[in-house]
Amino acid sequence: MSQSPQSAPLHRLLSQAADAVQGVREGRSLTDLLARVPADLRPGTQALAFAALRRLGSAEATRQQLAPKAPPPRVDGLLLVALALLWPDPDQPPAYTDHTLVDQAVHAAKQRAPASANFVNAVLRRFLRERDALVAAALRSPLGAFNHPAWWVEKLKQDWPAQWQALLAANNRAPPMTLRVHARRSSAADYVQRLASLGIAARALGGPAPQAVLLDKPVPVSALPGFAEGLVSVQDAAAQLAAPLVVGAGLRPGARVLDACAAPGGKTAHLLELQPDLQLTALDADAQRLARVQDNLQRLGQSATLKAADARQTATWWDGQPFDAILLDAPCSASGIVRRHPDVRWLRRPDDITALAQVQAELLDALWPLLAPGGRLVYATCSVFRAEGQAQLDAFLQRQPDAKSYAVPGFTGHLLPLADNAQPPAPPLDGFFYGLLTRS
Ligand SMILES: C[S@@+](CC[C@H](N)C(=O)[O-])C[C@H]1O[C@@H](n2cnc3c(N)ncnc32)[C@H](O)[C@@H]1O
Repeated sequence: MSQSPQSAPLHRLLSQAADAVQGVREGRSLTDLLARVPADLRPGTQALAFAALRRLGSAEATRQQLAPKAPPPRVDGLLLVALALLWPDPDQPPAYTDHTLVDQAVHAAKQRAPASANFVNAVLRRFLRERDALVAAALRSPLGAFNHPAWWVEKLKQDWPAQWQALLAANNRAPPMTLRVHARRSSAADYVQRLASLGIAARALGGPAPQAVLLDKPVPVSALPGFAEGLVSVQDAAAQLAAPLVVGAGLRPGARVLDACAAPGGKTAHLLELQPDLQLTALDADAQRLARVQDNLQRLGQSATLKAADARQTATWWDGQPFDAILLDAPCSASGIVRRHPDVRWLRRPDDITALAQVQAELLDALWPLLAPGGRLVYATCSVFRAEGQAQLDAFLQRQPDAKSYAVPGFTGHLLPLADNAQPPAPPLDGFFYGLLTRS
């Protein structure tokens, strides 16, 4: 029988998390790294790696104070994870006592790099003895204070002079788990009651995302009633604004709709929940990711025409019939969903934003001629950077005289992941940008 995450010894999880964090520092994606972790250790490893990556800047600044010469990568990864987990957190009580963490980190060190065990022990114990002073010193550097690379902090300052600190803080909090209730099968309020009867606390979000349900605490999808039958899907509330913008007051029956960057299919499925009679083409450049669209549609009992192609190369996949509506959920920096992907900030480079903005512009230019006169195109990115949002849209409007932009309050423009008085305290929405264009 495989071990449950709860029963996995902490030193093994710390060791796996150390490899994952070190892998991210070397430029690999956390999703890929976690896929290689043995299945029984994966949930526990993910929890530790997420927590450590949200504090990686603080941990690095502290390790530099304690050991200015970086130890070998296997030891450094372990030290950084342990320091991040020992970091005082005003928002929540620590999952492990200081003593347990140090003890288990030293145990892990003995197994990964035996000669380093005394060094790891000495560094961590010194951190505990001098924690207040070391934390205060780390907080004096931007990396230690904000847990984002300096260029990212500068970019946010430029784009959001009044909100940049709140945005950085929100990125370092664990996000809520949000569901989308199938609009034709149930309501958010009814589903909240159904969850309550199973002892799962949740609330309906309301406002522009009437099908969104926010759980107080994440649960495995297998615990969600009706999940396997397609009654609910996991999707952030900000992502739930795309499909209503595309459908508007209702497209004509059988309208031709293109979901140009569809995988893994969250918005594709939502479109069909809102209007099942659409003739929907779901396109994605990544054939493997496109397979996940098929899985999602199957669970929900829906169908669409799936095509693996680069949306910019229209000659390779388009049949020449114009679309009544297009959703362009473009590839982007993912700067709006950092709390769900805590590795992203450490992996991106400043040049990536310029390159991504270029691809977004090419996608807009290539897809625009495919839209029928009077049709609507929704441009979306899960980014808070203006270059991928409003600035991108403004530049497109300059290039395309037959494009007109519409503001829909609460839906279009930059949606920032900022805390309101929400319970749980994490901001209820991811960061997103939506632009609604029509073709005259
Ligand atoms: C933000 S994700 C889409 C998320 C999806 N709409 C959903 O809601 O589940 C962007 C997607 O664009 C795809 N992509 C990137 N470049 C593309 C291109 N040139 N043509 C088509 N798809 C592309 C990526 O493979 C990725 O799956």
